[in-house]
Amino acid sequence: MSERAPVLTVDGPGGAGKGTISRLIAERLGWHLLDSGALYRLTALAAGKHDVALDDEPALAAIAEALDVVFLAEEGEARILLEGEDATRTIRTEQVGDAASRVASLPTVREALLKRQRDFRQAPGLVADGRDMGTVVFTDAPLKIFLTASAEERAHRRQRQLREAGVDASLSSLLKEIQARDARDMQRSVAPLVPADDAIELDTTSLTIPEVVDRLTELLAQRGLASDT
Ligand code: DC
Repeated sequence: MSERAPVLTVDGPGGAGKGTISRLIAERLGWHLLDSGALYRLTALAAGKHDVALDDEPALAAIAEALDVVFLAEEGEARILLEGEDATRTIRTEQVGDAASRVASLPTVREALLKRQRDFRQAPGLVADGRDMGTVVFTDAPLKIFLTASAEERAHRRQRQLREAGVDASLSSLLKEIQARDARDMQRSVAPLVPADDAIELDTTSLTIPEVVDRLTELLAQRGLASDT
């Protein structure tokens, strides 16, 4: 086990900053990056393309198993191809996010995506972003982080993100969506969103992105996983 590439798991609710923080840490360390939420989003998108209902578990598990996806890391931009078509932006819509959360509650879909996620573990290391990275997928990770932020702060962050993309959304509707998705992710019977027993919890409500990155770099250095300079 100790010869396996190290993994930093970053779990937590949507909007806590996992995606941005994981990308920045992976860039700083030169490690690989797994955006596991993208796999659930892609499964939901593929289901839509193939007219599969979101409660047809056997058909959804087959879609997850056979998912034809390519992650491209091009200069400064990561692109995702689903069945040869660019899905980078399409998977980020609220509609696909909501469908992904439903698909992610199905045990056989989660099972079908397990190996694909574990295959990302390659030298020199992996930053794995998701909900169950530390509790299910990489239980032996040498550093597990659980990032949180208040639901209100996460709604604000989402509103800013949407504004930058030219989309107007009310804070109250975003807050409601975030709370509904949190409830679904935390209450599902399989791989619910909970911190691993050995995870370090970090509340980012009043922290800036560089402050969070610095804190994680310190923790990695303390575990001998990276230098903190
Ligand atoms: O992080 P995200 O918003 O892209 O994730 C989309 C959905 O997928 C979210 O509702 C929770 C689910 N998900 C999951 O169940 N397990 C993961 N490891 C990652 C995401």
